Amino acid sequence: MRTQGNWFVTIQRLIRGLIKGKQFCFIGKNVKLGKDVQISPMVLIDDNVTIGDGTFIGYGCVIRPGTSIGYDCSFGHLNVIEGCIIGNRVGIHAQCHLTKGTIIYDDVFMGALCWTSNTKNIDHGRGLNPKVLGPTFERACGIGSGVGFLPDVRIGENSIIGAGSVVTKNVPPREIWIGFPAKKKSDVKEGIL
Ligand SMILES: CC(C)(COP(=O)(O)OP(=O)(O)OC[C@H]1O[C@@H](n2cnc3c(N)ncnc32)[C@H](O)[C@@H]1OP(=O)(O)O)[C@@H](O)C(=O)NCCC(=O)NCCS
Repeated sequence: MRTQGNWFVTIQRLIRGLIKGKQFCFIGKNVKLGKDVQISPMVLIDDNVTIGDGTFIGYGCVIRPGTSIGYDCSFGHLNVIEGCIIGNRVGIHAQCHLTKGTIIYDDVFMGALCWTSNTKNIDHGRGLNPKVLGPTFERACGIGSGVGFLPDVRIGENSIIGAGSVVTKNVPPREIWIGFPAKKKSDVKEGIL
């Protein structure tokens, strides 16, 4: 069995964590942390990650290479963020798995245990080289807990997805969708968002 990296890389990352004042954190190369970023223990931040001012990263989060996170965001414990572009004031509860290519605009909220996906075909071991297309979450949409997203879906501005849904199609702005597969339930009432 081969393991990724080696003890030398591990120690380098730990030392970078210590230098940046984040104990027990692994921090990769070319990581840019803004002012007042709060990083909890046991966080892994990979190479070429940017995190904006005032953002909070909870215990045990894994932030994979190339991720960009804006300012004043909050990520609860044990989130995995794999090369995503994330705007400002975004709130992600705990234990979500956001795959590479996911785009999240400003002011989005996501409940705990959500997942995204980014390839239609399951490639593992088949050499299909599929296109990687993550979901896009437009400004201020609200996602309930435990929602799954198929690749390349677009969640419209100010829309709401009910807890436990699986979203397989684009959701227009200001609509509430629920279920598996998710379908329109109603419009978001004026004044709610
Ligand atoms: C989608 C949601 C916003 C709808 O709220 P609402 O408009 O007040 O809906 P109601 O509670 O009046 O329910 C209306 C119907 O939809 C059903 N329903 C509500 N939410 C549902 C969901 N997530 N999945 C499936 N059905 C749902 C209800 O059972 C009810 O069915 P009925 O008409 O047969 O009795 C809400 O139910 C929801 O899922 N919120 C997310 C909660 C959450 O995860 N928060 C995270 C913060 S920690």
